[in-house]
Amino acid sequence: MKTYLVTGGAGFIGSNFIHCMINKYGNSIRIINVDLLTYAGNLENLKGLENKENYTFIKADICDKDKIEEIFKNNEIDYVVNFAAESHVDRSIKDPEVFVRTNVLGTQCLLNIAKNYWEKEDDTFLPGKKFLQVSTDEVYGSLEHEGYFTENTPLDPHSPYSASKAAADMIVKAYFDTYKMPVNITRCSNNYGRYQFPEKLIPLVINNVLSGKELPVYGDGKNIRDWLYVEDHCLAIDQVINNGKLGEVYNIGGHNERQNIEIIKTIIKTVQNTLDESDPRRNHISDELIKFVKDRKGHDRRYAIDPAKISSEIGWLPETAFEQGIVETIKWYLKNAKWIENVTSGQYQEYYRQMYEKKDERVS
Ligand code: NAD
Ligand code: DAU
Repeated sequence: MKTYLVTGGAGFIGSNFIHCMINKYGNSIRIINVDLLTYAGNLENLKGLENKENYTFIKADICDKDKIEEIFKNNEIDYVVNFAAESHVDRSIKDPEVFVRTNVLGTQCLLNIAKNYWEKEDDTFLPGKKFLQVSTDEVYGSLEHEGYFTENTPLDPHSPYSASKAAADMIVKAYFDTYKMPVNITRCSNNYGRYQFPEKLIPLVINNVLSGKELPVYGDGKNIRDWLYVEDHCLAIDQVINNGKLGEVYNIGGHNERQNIEIIKTIIKTVQNTLDESDPRRNHISDELIKFVKDRKGHDRRYAIDPAKISSEIGWLPETAFEQGIVETIKWYLKNAKWIENVTSGQYQEYYRQMYEKKDERVS
């Protein structure tokens, strides 16, 4: 039985990953979820798993050496899947320090403790172990109209968030190059799906459409992101854990580039089509809610992944088309109004005020 140490498992992708793995492997795996429960961590995302014998939640900081050491001491960990991170670019522009702490120092702390437990006296590693670093396409920087990010694209991060993720990737690579520690790095494009915190574009727009609030579009709305349904990302990670060649980087994406403005218009239309005819919220939904606001500083223009390596070497392909995934996602947010209400009350209101009040100007 393999034991997974999943960090950041109460966040968006981590919680989807845990559900996905338990659905796929049932009781034949064990999962230990280590999460600090920052503003982005939410145990509601893991409802239904609490009493499962093969699932354990531990509230801990990945920078806390003693605590992480204790977890390794008490459990025979086979895989570390490191999702734990500060993940929002806008927050990194306002307050970079915590990004370096968690994303860089936290990753190094986990790596080093895993190495200490997995390395044998002869400097080789116990068989069947792997450290998988969940990284991002943002480490490659920004593209113009043409071309794609491949695994050989030079790293050129621009935001404090992406710089901290690139630094973490380099440390993971150093542990492979120096010690031959069994690692993989995955670099995925933008995810969407259930449990995503409404600071990110898609859930923020869904929530605002439903509340009849303005939809803030940074700059000219023509920045391009390459969207992937979160469950497809989770299945790709599973395949890299099982079949990835040690020391390799794998890009994950599904050739689904969209301009932000297109995403926003799709959400408006899909919410309109999904709500009951009698639902009073339909009356305030229209393109008039769109508001062009001040651009994000250093805003990357275009991301686009070339997934040729993961599909040819490992056989992974995305299963969910965007047209289907966005409908599923909107239906999930409509059905889980309480979930949105809980995460958008309190602190979120202050975050929204601080983040958007100064953007309140149209840029032509
Ligand atoms: P998220 O912000 O939703 O979740 C992050 C989780 O990490 C939260 O549960 C939080 O409580 C936890 N955490 C934060 N600091 C911690 C610490 N010091 N110790 C322990 N736990 C801590 O993020 P997400 O969108 O689910 O992203 C997960 C990972 O995937 C990140 O590493 C991110 O860089 C990467 N990624 C995200 C996307 C995307 O589109 N969201 C795409 C590619 C890669
Ligand atoms: O590419 C992968 C990355 O995708 C991950 O590594 C990050 O963790 C994740 O947050 C995401 O980063 P982005 O910055 O691309 O995602 P975000 O949802 O914040 O923004 C998507 C695009 O929408 C981006 O061009 C900025 C724009 N945007 C965003 C918000 C929140 C707006 O126009 N208005 C908004 O209010």
